[in-house]
Amino acid sequence: MSATIKRNVKYKGSQWTIADSKKIRFDDPTTTMPEIDYNFPVPHSDLWQWDTWCLRTEQGENATYNGWYIMFSLLAPRNHNVDINKDWNARHGKAFIGYFFSRDGLNWKYGGAVLKPGASKRPQQWAGCSILRNLTDNVDLFFTSVGSGQSVIAHSSAHIRTDNNRVWFVDGFDSVTDLFGPDGVIYATPGQNPYYSFRDPFFWVDKKSGEHYLLFEANEAGATNGHYVGPEETSYLPPGDVPTPDSSGKCAVIGIARLVSDFPHADYTKWEIMPPILKAIGTHDQLERPHIVEKNGLTYLFAIGHASYFSKNTKGPDGIYGYVSRDGLFGQYQPLNGSGLVLGNPTRQPKETYSHLVDSQGYVMSFIDTINDPQGTSRYRLGGTLAPTVKIEFVDDRTYLTKIYDYGQAFAPLHYNWTGRQDTSGFI
Ligand code: FRU
Repeated sequence: MSATIKRNVKYKGSQWTIADSKKIRFDDPTTTMPEIDYNFPVPHSDLWQWDTWCLRTEQGENATYNGWYIMFSLLAPRNHNVDINKDWNARHGKAFIGYFFSRDGLNWKYGGAVLKPGASKRPQQWAGCSILRNLTDNVDLFFTSVGSGQSVIAHSSAHIRTDNNRVWFVDGFDSVTDLFGPDGVIYATPGQNPYYSFRDPFFWVDKKSGEHYLLFEANEAGATNGHYVGPEETSYLPPGDVPTPDSSGKCAVIGIARLVSDFPHADYTKWEIMPPILKAIGTHDQLERPHIVEKNGLTYLFAIGHASYFSKNTKGPDGIYGYVSRDGLFGQYQPLNGSGLVLGNPTRQPKETYSHLVDSQGYVMSFIDTINDPQGTSRYRLGGTLAPTVKIEFVDDRTYLTKIYDYGQAFAPLHYNWTGRQDTSGFI
């Protein structure tokens, strides 16, 4: 593992304030996931399937490869012989990254585990992203390698192969390189904060500078309850409102690291850890799966969050939150829709979906968590399968839910055909 730390930077990470989050409106139809049919389908009934992402290019757009959509998910085997709740809750400890392929982005065939047995040093594989290296057949997997209380941002790569029936990977995914873990100066280590997070790398090339970055979920360095919540963290609170004592333990940040090894030759081994681009000190404790979409010259930053991780004097649904910058990746981010909420679960179905990922066209995939019986009985169904994809539109600092598609439906604006010749293949 080889990462340097850069503390002196020109940007000042933005803050998602407590006051901003108080503007969250539950059940606003423009920012609320549609209610999902209680009888949702489970196409892969021997697997729990949750955090999901599609193959993307370095420029950040989903791409098909030789006519195949390729999708990656966190998976765990379903054990049909034990209590279903226990089995679902135990999934994080058994998580591995698997892949699926499809001709239409709708009907997915399971391809198996991505990493070869023994490739990963630690037992669990948590979320990440899969990048098709420009004008090659090479896929880079950035993911979270988890085990023994440690989580490390890691990398592996291989080459894709396809025929008329399937997609598979060769010459790789047989070893994993650890890239970096939390440094304890900017980002919390498990020793400092037992509830720390450090995971979910998202690869991003800054078009202005050409620099390569990884965004990740983290917590501010320091002891669990020692985070300063002052006027910058609260912003302007209503009369009589003060931060609740638990707010000094809410310290989610979106971290960033810059690639310092030789990226023209795709050497992804050396990174420089930099201060966060967004903080939610006092407001929230987990900003998971951070990701970026650029539209109309604006940089949109998204992360998912659970209701239970808000500080006590504010609240919001399980869902996806977002922020917009007018001056690029390191610019000041303002919460989208005033509050930050982009898509939340309806109050009637508070655990309906999670782990939303917005693609470059505004399609949003997520997984089904738990759906309550709409008849109001105490029955419920656990998901562990993909939710209907939805579409959001962006208008400056606002977003609007506009459409609902099929379960697990993926879209790709780019269709990449690789002939094996470096000079002529490209995007069609
Ligand atoms: C979100 C998440 C991710 C993590 C994964 C572990 O659903 O908590 O942050 O990588 O699940 O299962």
